[in-house]
Amino acid sequence: MIANSRNLSSKSLILTMKSDFLVIGSGIAGLSFALRAAKHGSVTVICKDEALDSNTNWAQGGISAVLPENLRDQGDSNQEHINDTLDAGAGLCNPEAVAAIIKEGAATIEELIQWGVDFDQDENGKFSLGKEGGHTSRRILHSKDTTGHEIATSLLEQARKHPQIQILENHFAIDLITSARLGSSTDDRVLGAYVLDQESESIHTFKSNRVVLATGGCGKVYLYTTNPDSATGDGVAMAWRAGASIANMEFVQFHPTCFYNPSATGPEARSFLVSEAVRGEGAKLIDRHGREFMFEYDERGSLAPRDIVARAIDHEIKKTGAPCVFLDTTHYPKGFMKERFPHIHQTLESFGHDCEVDPIPVVPAAHYMCGGVVTDLHGKTTIRGLFAVGESACTGLHGANRLASNSLLEGNVMARRAFDEMMRLYPPGKETPTTPPIPEWEYGDTTTPDELVVIYHNWDEIRRSMWDYVSIVRTDNRLKRAGYRLQNLRKEVREFYWGHRVTRDILELRNLVTVASLIVDSAVWRKESRGIHYTLDHPERVSKFEVDTVLRKF
Ligand code: SIN
Repeated sequence: MIANSRNLSSKSLILTMKSDFLVIGSGIAGLSFALRAAKHGSVTVICKDEALDSNTNWAQGGISAVLPENLRDQGDSNQEHINDTLDAGAGLCNPEAVAAIIKEGAATIEELIQWGVDFDQDENGKFSLGKEGGHTSRRILHSKDTTGHEIATSLLEQARKHPQIQILENHFAIDLITSARLGSSTDDRVLGAYVLDQESESIHTFKSNRVVLATGGCGKVYLYTTNPDSATGDGVAMAWRAGASIANMEFVQFHPTCFYNPSATGPEARSFLVSEAVRGEGAKLIDRHGREFMFEYDERGSLAPRDIVARAIDHEIKKTGAPCVFLDTTHYPKGFMKERFPHIHQTLESFGHDCEVDPIPVVPAAHYMCGGVVTDLHGKTTIRGLFAVGESACTGLHGANRLASNSLLEGNVMARRAFDEMMRLYPPGKETPTTPPIPEWEYGDTTTPDELVVIYHNWDEIRRSMWDYVSIVRTDNRLKRAGYRLQNLRKEVREFYWGHRVTRDILELRNLVTVASLIVDSAVWRKESRGIHYTLDHPERVSKFEVDTVLRKF
């Protein structure tokens, strides 16, 4: 609902918008929250690109859940799924969160199906279940190898039809508005967000006492990532600036198998994901001589949890000087890859690679942020009215290493839990009467930056430093080096941000440098190796570090 508007220039129209629920992000968590909330009030969904541009949309493998016995044809149990999750999480999962989320698996799948999601079934009408690293059973529901796209398009179709949901694309949330930031010393609650409309270049005020961060991950903090360009950790950075607690940012998961394409230059040379589900069907990791090296690292071989596989590949590459290892699918029956993994098969083909004939060259790349904005089991953050769901949240499910395909599950389950809690605590219609007046965004007399090279240079420097010094294998010295560089970059970015009219590039750079710094600060603090945080200087697990790394600005 538009409350008022005024002109700033011929191009800019400043608006103040108000809705019962403000959702920032349009992946599984954001959209499924919006669909629930729309039954109870007006919902605005802010997306910085098109609504389909999310990590969810890019997810290949699937969503893990233990289905009722009559819907599957093999043994499994929630307890086994819980055990696998705890095992991968290396002592840092919150067992309560793990149990709560996993036990809702079957119900969440049912709900997705009702929203129109089509999961693959076998000829007997049972769900076809895939397997991925660290899972002791087949329990991954999938839609070929574009499961995330199937979920994202189904939810979006429902959301677009709903009269109570307004989806605003190309809108970039800059900062949260909270009562503490407006000067209240007694109460910290969320009041809305300032949002850049990228088309009109104006900054609008979105008012809402119920705000959900569902902004996804931060893969773009690294040079090589499986994530879309939009994954710049915006939710974590905004929550950090607003004073919310952030946890476990050192745990950035690297996916072991991205297509290594030597004919491409730049980051795109190694960003196309080859799903772990391919290994789940029996593909093997080999070196250039055909040696199946994974058994030297773990008895589970190519299907060990991904921290182990990514580290092993990194080690093999460093040891042999080879640019990549290989994923061998050539033993599959002819036509299998095309039938079961059509997207991967076709994409590889478009790069000129025939995976039925030649093993696929692969390398690891940054994939998933296990840490995030601290929430309880209901998505609640440390700021009243502010909830976080999906990859941007740290619920305790993933601990020090996420089990494959647990994230879409978490996204949908936590959206439900967050919604229920919000309705319990802040039902629409029961507005807080003492909301302080919210000022419009202050543009000042700053001008559009003419030295874009500074932004691009800093962006590259962050991503390269993070890749070189803060990726799969860390050391105290590498972290220290990254820390120095980020300190300088933060200063430069701050000056740039305050000295110029904001653009999307500046805003993303500001968020990237914040998130990169949170990763490095957390990694420096953790003087041990656990899950996906591995450092040569402290290679063992240390019991005194069996705690979350929680950071808070003030
Ligand atoms: C994959 O398909 O390998 C990715 C699945 C995930 O990250 O959960």
